[in-house]
Amino acid sequence: MSEDIAKKDAAGRTVFVKTYGCQMNVYDSERMVSLLRPLGYRPVEAADGADLVILNTCHIREKAAEKLYSDLGRLRRTKDASDRAMTVAVAGCVAQAEGAEVAARADIVDIVVGPQAYHRLPELIARAARREGVVLDTDFSVDEKFDALARDRAAEGVSAYVTVQEGCDKFCAFCVVPYTRGAEISRSAEAIIAETRRLAAGGVREVTLLGQNVNAWASAPPPSARPGIWGFRPRADGTWGLGELCRALARIDGLERIRFTTSHPRDMDDGLIDALGEETKLMPYLHLPVQAGSDRILKAMNRGHTAADYLSLIGRIRAARPDIALSGDFIVGFPGETSEDFEDTLALTRAVGYASAFSFKYSRRPGTPAAVMPKQVAEEEKDRRLEALQARIKTQRDAFCDSLVGKDLPVLFERAGRKDGQLIGKTPYLQSVHAYAPASLIGEVARVRIEAVTPNALAGELAGESIEGRPARLKVGDAEETRV
Ligand code: SAH
Ligand code: SF4
Ligand code: F3S
Repeated sequence: MSEDIAKKDAAGRTVFVKTYGCQMNVYDSERMVSLLRPLGYRPVEAADGADLVILNTCHIREKAAEKLYSDLGRLRRTKDASDRAMTVAVAGCVAQAEGAEVAARADIVDIVVGPQAYHRLPELIARAARREGVVLDTDFSVDEKFDALARDRAAEGVSAYVTVQEGCDKFCAFCVVPYTRGAEISRSAEAIIAETRRLAAGGVREVTLLGQNVNAWASAPPPSARPGIWGFRPRADGTWGLGELCRALARIDGLERIRFTTSHPRDMDDGLIDALGEETKLMPYLHLPVQAGSDRILKAMNRGHTAADYLSLIGRIRAARPDIALSGDFIVGFPGETSEDFEDTLALTRAVGYASAFSFKYSRRPGTPAAVMPKQVAEEEKDRRLEALQARIKTQRDAFCDSLVGKDLPVLFERAGRKDGQLIGKTPYLQSVHAYAPASLIGEVARVRIEAVTPNALAGELAGESIEGRPARLKVGDAEETRV
């Protein structure tokens, strides 16, 4: 009923979505636009003149959360200057963590909607239109939002995200995610396979499986999966882990590449490591955050593993997939971190050799255990450590990129580049590559000789259109189609 009201009211309206934070938010924003499109909302590129503005927020660090309030201030001026009514919705992790405060602090906010409630947006918009005051929905629904949020297939490119898992039960002492995204839940294997098959049939060549702890994903096998077939190795309790899911997805015709992010070291089981070693469609790139290299700090962070555990895990992964490129996340200046502890972090990076990594200054998040820990580290010291770590990571990244110069790599072309005749694609190691190539290669994997390293990408030249003697893209029927 209320959806009908929203539909009638919204015909010919525009929505502007601004996304902060992680890939999960990027994915959720796309889903919200898909959900609103049938209601008559067309996405636009600026808040100016939009009927609906959605700020999809991030709460991970103080700066990220503060950004919302400064943007709301700016939006107030845009709204005052506009001659149309503008509805403002705050979504995402700030909405979940401090929804009531957002509503109280910013009177221009009409809707506060948490990450588990997006499928109820049409109803919330209808309620806001009836001027019911601030409409707040931060319930964790029992019913799955995964399948309630449809995809707009026309909007998919060559590479698409598929959410397979949400939430976190790990409770690292510094982190808000378990509070903003709730407990770990997995989407069913059946639904993921069906969605990926639809995407591949529509031209998607690469999927990135998303989850806050993606490798904690677990589900019953799809009903049609027969034990023992295709080398699936269900676990002792009969469930599938992420490795099995990837094996099933690898059998989907037309799909060329599979990635997943973000993994937790504790959930990296043998099934997934074996799949990384055996499944060529699984790309040799792994984002495996470790946060710190000192066992004392890892313990205080409640990571549940030591530096040696992490290194031995990396050893096992590399034994299975020797060319794997590793990435990680680091936090410097966690409470109580001494210069010796920080040296251990540098030593760990030396031992691993990262192809890329992200590093952050510890940010005190209200409500997390670390926020009230003694021996908070001074801001200047955090700056110094961050600079040293980032310099180290840059050296490793440069060395990794340099090692690829002169090599031929299979590149999946995704879109046109800024220069005429140039395309942008990705190496198996997730680096962007610019190369002059015909537009017909968009959506194809082609061999590219890497010629130069630029600050954010690689540059290369087309080295032939086929990979190992087979057509750049498998034609329908070439690959064994899976019915699982
Ligand atoms: N589930 C993922 C992603 C968590 S958020 C994981 O476990 O890796 C992404 C990164 O933000 C984390 O890996 C961590 O490095 C960083 N982060 C989280 N909380 C933080 C905080 N309070 N201060 C600084 N960085 C933080
Ligand atoms: Fe946050 Fe730790 Fe969970 Fe990652 S594993 S989301 S860092 S609590
Ligand atoms: Fe930020 Fe929430 Fe993602 S806090 S990093 S948007 S899970």
